[in-house]
This record gives sequence, C-alpha cells and structure tokens, in this order.
Amino acid sequence: MIGETATCGDARTLDEVTTQNTFQPNPDSFDKLYRGEPAVEGAPKPTGVPWDIRAAQPRLMELEALGGISGEVLDIGCGLGDNAIFLASRGHSVTALDGSPAAIEQARDRAGKAGVSVNFNVADATNLTGYDGRFDTVVDSALYHCLEPDGRHAYAAGLYRATRPGARWHLYCFSDAEVNGLVAPIGSVSESSIRDTLTANGWRIDFLGPTTYLASAGGFGSLGESVPPEVADQMPPEVHEQMADLRRRFDVIADLLDGDRVHLPFTVVHAHRVD
Ligand SMILES: C[S@@+](CC[C@H](N)C(=O)[O-])C[C@H]1O[C@@H](n2cnc3c(N)ncnc32)[C@H](O)[C@@H]1O
Repeated sequence: MIGETATCGDARTLDEVTTQNTFQPNPDSFDKLYRGEPAVEGAPKPTGVPWDIRAAQPRLMELEALGGISGEVLDIGCGLGDNAIFLASRGHSVTALDGSPAAIEQARDRAGKAGVSVNFNVADATNLTGYDGRFDTVVDSALYHCLEPDGRHAYAAGLYRATRPGARWHLYCFSDAEVNGLVAPIGSVSESSIRDTLTANGWRIDFLGPTTYLASAGGFGSLGESVPPEVADQMPPEVHEQMADLRRRFDVIADLLDGDRVHLPFTVVHAHRVD
C-alpha cells in the first residue's frame, strides 16, 4: 500500500478524498478543543489535542539551529506555545499569538514552568492591527491551512504590515501528499494556491517543498467511527470518511510508533518580504 494511491474502503481514492476536502475548523472549535469540550453538541469529548507533542516541532528546531530565525520573532497561531517556548529558550525575543484564549492561558502556564519569557496574547491572524512594523521572522506552524482562502489573503497582507523590510516567513501547512499512506485529516492547501496568495500580498517564495509535521495519534481518537451518527451526518461525507480512514491507519501502525507520534504530510515555505 505504501507509495500507492490507496483506497478508503469505498470506490474513491485518497487523492480524490484529499482534493474534495473543504471542511475548515473555526476559532470557536479550537477553543473548545483546548478546554477539553466536544466541538459540536453530541460529539464525544476530545481525546487530546492532535498537535500537542509537548515539544517544539523537530523541523522548526532544525531550522533554528541552521540560523533561520533572527530578530523579533512572531509565532502566529502558536497553540499551546511549545514552539515559542523553544525559540525563547534559544535566546530569541518571541511574541506568540493565537485566536484561542484557552490555548494562550495554557501556553503562558507552560512558559512559566519552562522558566522562559514569551509575549503571549490572543489575536486574530487575519487582523493584526496594533502590530505594525514589529517583526523580522514569522513562524506559522500549522495555522495557514486552518484559514479560509479569503482569510489567507487577509493574513498574508496583515503579515506584510506587521513585519519589517527583509522579514522572513516560515510557513508549515498540510499538503496534499501522503506519508506512508497517511494523508492530512483536513484542509490541505495546494502548492499553486500558496504561491498565488503569498505573491499577491508582497511575499517572494525562496523555497517551497515537502516536509513532515509530528502529531499525536492519541489526539485523533475522537475521529472516524467514534463520531456518533448524528454528528457524522452534519459533516461532509468525504471529510468523515477521510478522518475515519486516518484513524484506521493509526490503529494499524500503533505498535510501531515512537510513543504515539505520527508524521503527517506538510509543505514548508520559506518566503521573504518584498520591500
Ligand atoms: C493546528 S494548531 C497549531 C498550533 C501550533 N502552532 C503547533 O504547531 O502546535 C492551529 C492553531 O491556530 C489557531 N488559529 C486558527 N485560526 C486562527 C486565527 N484566525 N487567528 C489566530 N489563531 C488561529 C488555533 O487556535 C490553533 O491553536
């Protein structure tokens, strides 16, 4: 099955399921997840936060070691803060923003326990009013694919205003590729769409290519078959099936994983601000 276009238990291929995917999470559903509450009424409680690996992303740590982070840093859509905490522990001055008050509260707690200082605040990535001309490096670890196409344009334009001449933007988002048959659970973004959006909003792409993102398989426990029928009925069928397929695959490889960590298919983009 590895390297092939696998089927999802029906006539559709993974490729078809991935490209049909238009389901997007919203800020309220994120906040509920961080509070341990079901995203919609009737759904089971979340089994965890799928991206909470209690450490910085390995690819981001490597980027930092290679000198990719400099000046004033913005971690946008920072979630529970582990990337920002890692960057601060390496001596960087970091502002970390997220739309979820619950995430920011927990991120502040983690930073306090780690003994590092990060400027955490609640903010909407598509409206960064008040942050004009502040940042030299932007880190986006899995925020971009959470936004609607219009929101991505507002976000890219807002980041242009929030940064200084020469600023760099490192963007990591779900791709439409696969890792050993594992596909993005929701909202992958095509390469051409990323190129169009960034270029139209004053960013030049220096590199765009495949990478992986480490996630927690346990955090995906409420996907798939465990979703009650009345909730599944509210989801686009292809999204429900895609999530169920991902859950089945996690179950098959569970004994082979390092802890419960799984690699998911991502795109990495390194861009700089056109002055
Ligand atoms: C997949 S999580 C990634 C979290 C973190 N960057 C990481 O890699 O662990 C996406 C994050 O983006 C946040 N988010 C989604 N839409 C947002 C928006 N419009 N403004 C700010 N944050 C947003 C969510 O609350 C969530 O914490």
